[in-house]
Amino acid sequence: MYQITEWCHHFIREQVRPGSFCIDATMGNGGDTELLCRLAGPEGRVLAFDIQKSALSRTEKRLRDAGVPDNFRLILDSHSHMTQYADAGTIDCIVFNLGYLPGGDHRLATKPASTLRALEQSLPLLKKGGMVSLCIYSGGDTGFEERDAVLAWLKELDPRKYLVVLSSYYNRPNNPPIPVIIQKL
Ligand SMILES: C[S@@+](CC[C@H](N)C(=O)[O-])C[C@H]1O[C@@H](n2cnc3c(N)ncnc32)[C@H](O)[C@@H]1O
Repeated sequence: MYQITEWCHHFIREQVRPGSFCIDATMGNGGDTELLCRLAGPEGRVLAFDIQKSALSRTEKRLRDAGVPDNFRLILDSHSHMTQYADAGTIDCIVFNLGYLPGGDHRLATKPASTLRALEQSLPLLKKGGMVSLCIYSGGDTGFEERDAVLAWLKELDPRKYLVVLSSYYNRPNNPPIPVIIQKL
């Protein structure tokens, strides 16, 4: 069965080509970073952000062990500063996996205000045809504030400029996660 990250990886695989420039906005244990590094290849580039030092050290080890190309930069900073690290119109794919790291400190989860700032910043960074992949979680420790803020923001995106496709685990109980793809037209 498709987990939300696998679902999003399906679209990321379609999007990211050798030479692509990508951002992992929520590095965590580096699962998405590893995929982006592999797909972008030696000619590509990947920037990955997290506010936890431990995420950087775990991801660094993971990427070295996996033998991905040396095409990544791991950045200890909030994704809400991402425009300081890349130029407008240069990015092929930006990945957000919101919430907290399973097994980590739940207090260090993504927060509505900084997530919205980061999403706002991500759009001008995208090339035409570029994509944001977004996994939204809710319920439990996470609550609903971030989900509701992000869904309200998505709804307002100009349909002439962005395609927003939201999937639903329609028959799954207990606030299932929501996978979203935004494409810049
Ligand atoms: C669900 S986890 C990401 C999982 C990751 N993609 C993976 O494959 O393991 C969310 C991550 O976002 C990070 N985070 C929280 N606030 C952040 C912020 N403002 N900027 C960047 N990362 C942030 C957390 O530290 C946590 O590691």
